Amino acid sequence: MPESPLALIVGANRGLGLGLARELLQRGFGVIATARDPDGAEELAALAAAHPGKLSILPLDLAIPADIDGFAGRLDARMLDVLFVNAGVAGPAHRSTMEATPEEVGALMFVNAVAPVRLARLLLDRVREGSGILAFMSSLMGSVEANTAGNHELYRASKAALNSLTRGLFATLGGRRITVLSMHPGWVRTDMGGAQAPLDIETSVRGLADVLAREAGSLRHGFIDYAGAEIPW
Ligand SMILES: NC(=O)c1ccc[n+]([C@@H]2O[C@H](COP(=O)([O-])OP(=O)(O)OC[C@H]3O[C@@H](n4cnc5c(N)ncnc54)[C@H](OP(=O)(O)O)[C@@H]3O)[C@@H](O)[C@H]2O)c1
Repeated sequence: MPESPLALIVGANRGLGLGLARELLQRGFGVIATARDPDGAEELAALAAAHPGKLSILPLDLAIPADIDGFAGRLDARMLDVLFVNAGVAGPAHRSTMEATPEEVGALMFVNAVAPVRLARLLLDRVREGSGILAFMSSLMGSVEANTAGNHELYRASKAALNSLTRGLFATLGGRRITVLSMHPGWVRTDMGGAQAPLDIETSVRGLADVLAREAGSLRHGFIDYAGAEIPW
């Protein structure tokens, strides 16, 4: 029997990350899911119980550099077909450059932009050559070109920074043959997206998983939404 493909999903205890874990399990993947607090990740634990031997849960807090830097040591030797860094935060409630403190901006930029790419750099050798995908949960709000509204300015800047750092990572892959994706999940009903969002989690993650399947082996850095549409940078 061929081995199941393996996905690592960072930030999988709720929202889109949890939905992605569920979707990829349904598609036959083994999944390594991370949570800041695995003991409190009840829905992940229930998912693990429903898929014996297919889902493991590891602790990881992207706000803690030592967590990121030590994470590779927690993995076994299996290669990753998908590494999906999904975790992200909305930033301070005031959302404004006029009110922001250095600490607020530092925390937002570190978790949304720097930490995902730092973690990915440390795990590059674990991503399968050829068909392996390194995906980051970006946002349409990270598009500089599509920003005609100007709202959520700090969050937008953090996702634009994520896209820029991701391009830098792609540009320095050296001889590694892997695909890198910056993904927009749509506007989705989660704690972050809010109740008025038009999309449910299932629709978004089904689309994201379809894009992953389609892009495997493309060996490019694309900015793509859950429906497969290219987004302007
Ligand atoms: N929902 C939307 O409409 C939408 C649109 C565009 C992009 N996105 C992006 O999609 C991703 C998931 O969003 P969501 O809507 O599912 O949000 P969510 O329901 O608020 O979930 C956020 C996830 O990120 C994790 N996380 C937050 N800070 C973390 C940290 N320091 N270390 C590790 N994990 C951390 C959370 O874990 P805890 O439970 O421990 O906090 C949770 O698992 C985010 O990157 C978001 O920016 C969402």
